[in-house]
Amino acid sequence: QKNGYDHFMLKEIFEQPNTIEQSFKGRIKTDNSDIVLGGLHNVMPKLKEARRLIIIGCGTSWHAGLVGEYLFEEYCRIPVEVEYASEFRYRNPIIDEDDVVIAISQSGETADTLAAVKLAKERGATVLGICNVVGSSIPRETDGGVYIHAGVEIGVASTKAFTAQVTILTMMAALLGKEKGRLSVEDYRVIIQELSEVPEKIKTILQSTDHIRKVADKYKDAVNALYLGRGALFPVALEGALKLKEVSYLHAEGYAAAEMKHGPIALVDDNLPVVVVAAKDRYYEKVVSNIQEVKARKGNIIAVVSEGDTQLDKMCDDIFEIPRSHPAVAPLLTIIPLQLFAYYVAILRGTDVDQPRNLAKSVTVE
Ligand code: F6R
Repeated sequence: QKNGYDHFMLKEIFEQPNTIEQSFKGRIKTDNSDIVLGGLHNVMPKLKEARRLIIIGCGTSWHAGLVGEYLFEEYCRIPVEVEYASEFRYRNPIIDEDDVVIAISQSGETADTLAAVKLAKERGATVLGICNVVGSSIPRETDGGVYIHAGVEIGVASTKAFTAQVTILTMMAALLGKEKGRLSVEDYRVIIQELSEVPEKIKTILQSTDHIRKVADKYKDAVNALYLGRGALFPVALEGALKLKEVSYLHAEGYAAAEMKHGPIALVDDNLPVVVVAAKDRYYEKVVSNIQEVKARKGNIIAVVSEGDTQLDKMCDDIFEIPRSHPAVAPLLTIIPLQLFAYYVAILRGTDVDQPRNLAKSVTVE
């Protein structure tokens, strides 16, 4: 069932143009004029009135939630908190009927996320799910939600579920922003149009595997790696670092780029690969100066950049190009080369990418 791919992880990375399309198919009108999310219909009045959104999840699903935070705040102007389900459930959280809790879980079975859902319900919040496995425990407990329709994910490292989760969050944020009157109809349609173009853009990125593999070969013997990003690309940096460490066992940390000078910069020397997510967005100039700071200390920069970025092409040791896009969909594009990079570093180091040591696909014990 690997369809000719060497590993499930690679197959699932390559499935993403299709799985993202499955996530929005039937939900984006064919003329790209509107989004329909049936699973939110009953709770839309509650969502529109919500005082705040609390997004909970673990691991990769928590990273998707962090991307969601930027999108909901930007397009809906609603306060958002993103929490590890394990922390949320044990710290006697302050929640009430005016809160909407969104639980994100690929498996729908993660013990901490499920317990957090039950707690939020007990306290009277409206609880929604963004899950993959249909009929799993979390969607059965929630008041509404949206399935991501990514298909079965077998690789222990989550790839296509992450991009499908982010696709759903992007649609939810755009729809809620429009419903609340915070996002103009024109901007709403631009986001829908951009989302509909993501699958084709990912296909382009997937053509650069030979290049990504070469770069992976160059850095495969590193001991540490640092991942940096700003805005909604900060969680992409976290997710890129998680992918690398879990499949290749190479230690990697993600940081908000500006945090670098508050500690991690001490690690920078000519042995340290620093992966920077640097799409052309409102943070671009700031990210460029972070790159200069690393270069001044002889760090090696691998940057994910928008195509045609000659400035960063000159400054960085290696670049992974992504097609130009609206910032709303940049997380979906920038994560793809980082998934592939983690995959190739892992196979060049000879680890078991589909079944990394000590990890389980579904964490049903806390
Ligand atoms: C990382 C990974 C894990 C899961 C986490 C939550 O690649 O797969 O971090 O994201 O265990 O699992 P779900 O989404 O099933 O709740």
